[in-house]
Amino acid sequence: MAVLCRLLVTLLSLGALCGAEPVKFLECESTAEQIIVDITPCPLQPCQLRKGQMYNVNVTFTSTTSSSTSKADVHGILSGIPVPFHIPNSDGCKSGIKCPIQKNGRYSYVTSLPVKDIYPTVKLEVKWELKDDDDKDIFCWKIPIQITD
Ligand SMILES: *[C@@H]1O[C@H](CO)[C@@H](O)[C@H](O)[C@H]1NC(C)=O
Repeated sequence: MAVLCRLLVTLLSLGALCGAEPVKFLECESTAEQIIVDITPCPLQPCQLRKGQMYNVNVTFTSTTSSSTSKADVHGILSGIPVPFHIPNSDGCKSGIKCPIQKNGRYSYVTSLPVKDIYPTVKLEVKWELKDDDDKDIFCWKIPIQITD
């Protein structure tokens, strides 16, 4: 199936039908390694996020540190100004990660991103951080998105 999907992606750009495709992102200061970011559905980048829809976010990473907690911090960056983005649950340990996080462990942080109707129809950058016990970023990445009606 994986091979077939890759073929479809290459030939027909039907990747969306085959589930998650990693999105390209800009890394900020992450201590984790081998970070893969999946946002579904997002068949084409920049991701078009429609108001009133829910998006699935799955970030897989290998931790280089141990931590008993993990807390997500999400911002929308509009004209250089970071605006806090509300997510339903900021506790990474309740979002697919089995805590304590262990050094060299591979984890998937899985959550949803609701796009509210009140959001403006703009292009912006989303910055997603997951912080450890010491408030250091386990991962930090940024992707451009377009909010649409
Ligand atoms: C998250 O992504 C990883 C790596 O691509 C995958 O193994 C895992 O099954 C995904 N989890 C969910 C809930 O989609």
